[in-house]
Amino acid sequence: MTSDNNVTRSEHASDQPHIEALHHAAFGPGARARAAFRVREQAPHDLSLSFLTELDGVIVASVRMTPIRVGAARGLFLGPLVVDPPRKGCGYGKALMRRAVAAAAQRGSSFVILVGDEPYYAPFGFKRLRPGQVVLPGPVDPARLLCAELAPGAALALAGMVRGVSIVRSPHEV
Ligand SMILES: CC(C)(COP(=O)(O)OP(=O)(O)OC[C@H]1O[C@@H](n2cnc3c(N)ncnc32)[C@H](O)[C@@H]1OP(=O)(O)O)[C@@H](O)C(=O)NCCC(=O)NCCS
Repeated sequence: MTSDNNVTRSEHASDQPHIEALHHAAFGPGARARAAFRVREQAPHDLSLSFLTELDGVIVASVRMTPIRVGAARGLFLGPLVVDPPRKGCGYGKALMRRAVAAAAQRGSSFVILVGDEPYYAPFGFKRLRPGQVVLPGPVDPARLLCAELAPGAALALAGMVRGVSIVRSPHEV
């Protein structure tokens, strides 16, 4: 279980080097070869929808969300979700998933896509897309291409290439 001396907050630009170190510890240098990385390098992640957990002031877990388009539909791409290896199994991953999906829904996003293990992500509403329905800029096991539908019918309607898009937000939005 997560302990009381942890804080979950949205990411700040200054957190970047600490989160990169977590990614390196969890994935090693091979992370950059993944199709999901290709999507994330097309556009910056949205700091206001990306969250981290600090334990005694040290970042131990992180999840990021990148705005995407699939055809004309706008949504979010979740990942990486990463937990400091010695802190795995303490509930930090699940807590960040709940926070990120709730924030996406609150922002009005109609869907969230990720590449990951269905048994872990299913409790947060993620289901497989139909094989070939959505295409990433690189090979992906179709069993790992998952979508959480936040507006009725949004997942069924998706078709085409996933592309990262830069955020254009009006001044009154947070
Ligand atoms: C996958 C990961 C994010 C999970 O975070 P975590 O904080 O360790 O997980 P939690 O403590 O929230 O949840 C633990 C539960 O999830 C299960 N679980 C962990 N990884 C799983 C996986 N890949 N598939 C299915 N279940 C998994 C555990 O068995 C445990 O089950 P239980 O609650 O029934 O005991 C973390 O292990 C990690 O950083 N892994 C390396 C990076 C990675 O693979 N990220 C995901 C792809 S982007």
